[in-house]
Amino acid sequence: MQCPLPSNDTCDHLGEILVTPQQIDQAVTRVAQEVRSTYPPDDSALALVLLEGARWFANDLFAQLAEDLFERHDFKASSYHGTTQSSGTVQTDELPCSVQNRTVLVIDDIYDTGRTLGHILDLLTQAGASEIKTCVMFEKECPHAHAIDLDFRGLTVPDRFLVGYGLDFEGNYRDLQCVGVLPQHLGSS
Ligand code: IMP
Ligand code: MG
Repeated sequence: MQCPLPSNDTCDHLGEILVTPQQIDQAVTRVAQEVRSTYPPDDSALALVLLEGARWFANDLFAQLAEDLFERHDFKASSYHGTTQSSGTVQTDELPCSVQNRTVLVIDDIYDTGRTLGHILDLLTQAGASEIKTCVMFEKECPHAHAIDLDFRGLTVPDRFLVGYGLDFEGNYRDLQCVGVLPQHLGSS
């Protein structure tokens, strides 16, 4: 018999916890310091938050930054469609605003193959952004098919299918305050 999916707010049901809430907090605080010392307060830079996954990281990050440091725009981008493997294509909405001659910080949950970030960076370059930097919460320790020069990185994580802190499996587990792998019977690698 299949076990029901666990509630989203506890890490207890994961097969293994790989990143604790304390490690997440410390990494976000460090990234916030790095971002603060990179962007002058009057720069009016744009922050593009890639949904759904980066919402959790971005919310915690922005809570530690001055409100007017960035003009924040959330932007839907996805390459996983209900599986544990990237689909190979990136789907996005229209850019939420003009980026012409703007300084843009792209915020994502995880750098895996790099396909998503690569696609977004191409999009922004074509749309005339004057400066683009990248900020991810996690970098997977794997050969990246698309090399991305990360400007801000929270933590490196093993090359496994992860859930928690924005990372989902079939829409579940994003709310976890830790990151880990699914129990084997739920299809984790
Ligand atoms: P990439 O395009 O392969 O770098 O993957 C980027 C996107 O895939 C991320 O923004 C995530 O939404 C998703 N993703 C990559 N690895 C994982 C994972 O281990 N768990 C859940 N989602 C993932
Ligand atoms: Mg994503």
